[in-house]
Amino acid sequence: MVQVTNLTVQYTKADEQAVLQDISFSVPAGERLALIGANGAGKSTLLLALIGVIKPLRGEMVINGVPVKEERLRELRQTAGMVFQNPEDQLFMPTVQDDIAFGLRNYGFDEQSAGARTGAILERLGIGHLKARMSHKLSGGEKRMAALAGVLVMEPSLLLLDEPSSFLDPRSRRNLITVLASLPQTMIIATHDLDLALALCPRTLFLKTGRIFADGPAGELLRDPALLEQCGL
Ligand SMILES: Nc1ncnc2c1ncn2[C@@H]1O[C@H](COP(=O)(O)OP(=O)(O)O)[C@@H](O)[C@H]1O
Ligand SMILES: [Mg+2]
Repeated sequence: MVQVTNLTVQYTKADEQAVLQDISFSVPAGERLALIGANGAGKSTLLLALIGVIKPLRGEMVINGVPVKEERLRELRQTAGMVFQNPEDQLFMPTVQDDIAFGLRNYGFDEQSAGARTGAILERLGIGHLKARMSHKLSGGEKRMAALAGVLVMEPSLLLLDEPSSFLDPRSRRNLITVLASLPQTMIIATHDLDLALALCPRTLFLKTGRIFADGPAGELLRDPALLEQCGL
């Protein structure tokens, strides 16, 4: 369960306008929400605020009972995981398995259980064969799946995905959609890929210049040409 109340974010004091203005919404456990909006609407900023990377000017965010506050970040890391738009921002260990096990080691798992959990998540995502590969030599689609594995291995209950289908060829994209559809996590998916949003998300939140412009059933909103036009899509 995610609860956002009156969230306002400003990057610099000089900003004439806040990047997110008075955003309030909640996402019940297990729901998948598509976050839609033109470039610069504030989608990535909202996701980064939710994981505590960007500190809001005003407002409250609570994820599964944990308030998004600096002193609670360690707890938050375990309950909320984010897959960044560019998987290269996420993969930094030499091999895929080291990368995925990194978070586990950090949270005190011993070698053996970290290895077992890493193997299990790789199989679950259908990328067991990438285990010993060098992260930086993977294809775009493989990097995306490895980054997703590194997040899922921590068993977060909330998954935040920023443009998950960018850089993917049609087959990797379909594979990603199938995998995401099979996961139990609550998800917030920022995307320009309206078909992916329709395939995965019953609900859509439209952002326009930092404000919520519409919030409702994806099947209706994403098929409303006037609304899409108004939001610059
Ligand atoms: N680190 C930053 N510093 C200052 N402004 C930023 C920063 N990141 C994003 N912005 C601005 O915030 C607004 C929203 O950006 P962003 O959240 O990335 O939008 P979206 O993901 O919807 O394309 C844009 O106007 C962008 O220029
Ligand atoms: Mg973005």
